[in-house]
Amino acid sequence: MVRVAGAHDAMGAKLAVSAGIDAIWSSGFEISSAHGVPDASILTMSEYLAAAQSIAEGVAPVPVIADCDTGYGNSNNVIRMVRQFEAAGVAAVCIEDKTFPKSNSFMEGKQELASVAEFCGKLLAAKNAQRTSAFAVIARTEALIAGWGVDEALRRADAYVRAGADALLVHDKSPTGEGVRAFLARWTPSVPVIVVPTTFPSLTVTEAEALGIKMVIYANQGIRAAARAVADVWHAIVRDGSSAAVEGAIAPLSVLFELQGMRAHTAAERQFDRTGPAPTRAIILHAGDHRDHRDDSSLAPLTADVPLAALDLNGTPLVQRQIALLRRCGIHDITVVTGYRHDAVPAEGATQVVNREWKTGGEVASLLTAVSDSAAQLPTASEVRTLVCYGDVIVEQQLLERLLAVDDDCTIVVDRSDHRDRSDRSDRSDRSANGDSAPREVRDRVTVADDASANDGANGAANDGTAPRRFLSPERPRQVRAIGSTAGSNGTGPANGEFAGLLLVSATRWPALHARAARRATGALPDLLSDALHDGESLTCLEVTSGWLELRTFADYQLACRMVGA
Ligand code: SPV
Ligand code: MG
Repeated sequence: MVRVAGAHDAMGAKLAVSAGIDAIWSSGFEISSAHGVPDASILTMSEYLAAAQSIAEGVAPVPVIADCDTGYGNSNNVIRMVRQFEAAGVAAVCIEDKTFPKSNSFMEGKQELASVAEFCGKLLAAKNAQRTSAFAVIARTEALIAGWGVDEALRRADAYVRAGADALLVHDKSPTGEGVRAFLARWTPSVPVIVVPTTFPSLTVTEAEALGIKMVIYANQGIRAAARAVADVWHAIVRDGSSAAVEGAIAPLSVLFELQGMRAHTAAERQFDRTGPAPTRAIILHAGDHRDHRDDSSLAPLTADVPLAALDLNGTPLVQRQIALLRRCGIHDITVVTGYRHDAVPAEGATQVVNREWKTGGEVASLLTAVSDSAAQLPTASEVRTLVCYGDVIVEQQLLERLLAVDDDCTIVVDRSDHRDRSDRSDRSDRSANGDSAPREVRDRVTVADDASANDGANGAANDGTAPRRFLSPERPRQVRAIGSTAGSNGTGPANGEFAGLLLVSATRWPALHARAARRATGALPDLLSDALHDGESLTCLEVTSGWLELRTFADYQLACRMVGA
């Protein structure tokens, strides 16, 4: 026994399937009703086909039977009809032996039957047109509907089976189904018999099975349920002047998302969508403490009890700002590596890992902690890029978006705002005590392979501090020649930029960098990158002149509070 539900769209069909229905009837009556027109050959074949195809796609592999009325014309129309519906993925078509244009079996007025010969011609054409053997053609006789009696129904049924019908639908609109019962009492089963018990709803599946019926089609109960429920809801809303009262009675949006297939949609987007930046995970390095920063300990009082990550910036902890920015840029796999005061890091929205070696291991140890702990959560680890962010840096969305648009193996953000040789900036004797207007200390110096800078040493013009030079970032990111302690001192040219604390590594390059980190075990990120450069690995840079801010001194903190919004 196959239980079949009528539907006019994929959503109704999906609801029936989730209730346990075995197959779907793409109902001419429902599709016509959904278009607000009579079920009387008013819609065209294309409209029925579109509905059937959408249903078939929605519930696949659950079989769909398309109600194809009279075949939309003569046998030539039937040939094209079969090809189209079969190609659309429906399992079977059903055609009925009425004349075109047909009218719904329950409509008042005459029900005109086609001749047996004409209808057998359509069945032969249909069976001849189908391309796959699994496809089925169901013959439907309206003899009982038209009032021609059981004898005529039997005569037609025999002829249709001889013409190749795979199953027989005997339609009946009597209140108890007595027509079908009488038919079955005299019918020698040769193909499966199908009934549509719209007017005899008390027929149970068990009883139908006992009568020899193989399929029961509940052709229109779905749209009738919807008509009642939808009307009730609108009446209530108009009556109440709000939708509050119906809220508990209607499906929540989550149910609709489920019916739409949002889960698969989101998963596919993650896996395949390449229109935005490539899938990227982020690691924010927040392990260190900031109480004793080289020669400036002005942040120490603020970070005595809480880590820098928890530092309040106009009402939002620093790390929460960083997480929110990453999310806005489409990065949802975020790991925050903590160490100092790790229990006070407000890392909601990210995975938090603790680098127990934070005092001695440095950023390299943090990186290793982050990856070993979060690797299992990566959706498709082989495809995912890794963005490493210093915890004490705030960046603008625009800058991060520019970095994410770069498609290199290993790229850092370098600030070129002051083009002078950065080595003179490491002499911190000119720093004033309050820091606010003092020249900043350059933490991680970088030498960018800049053709102009290659000449700096020769003409000396760029080193005197009097003529900061403008430059345009090239289309392609430039190569970095040196970074960290070796920049400006190992024959790679003077340092001409500052590492802004952002590193983007491709999925291809990541294993090598990770292995290098594992060999090193400790140290700062620039040292790790410097090793890679030394071994001939490429490192490019995105050159910027603004868009980032570091938080190392109290003056930085004051500036940050002035610059970032609430
Ligand atoms: C349909 O659902 O369109 C049918 C069945 O053909 S009935 O409405 O009972 O004719
Ligand atoms: Mg119909």
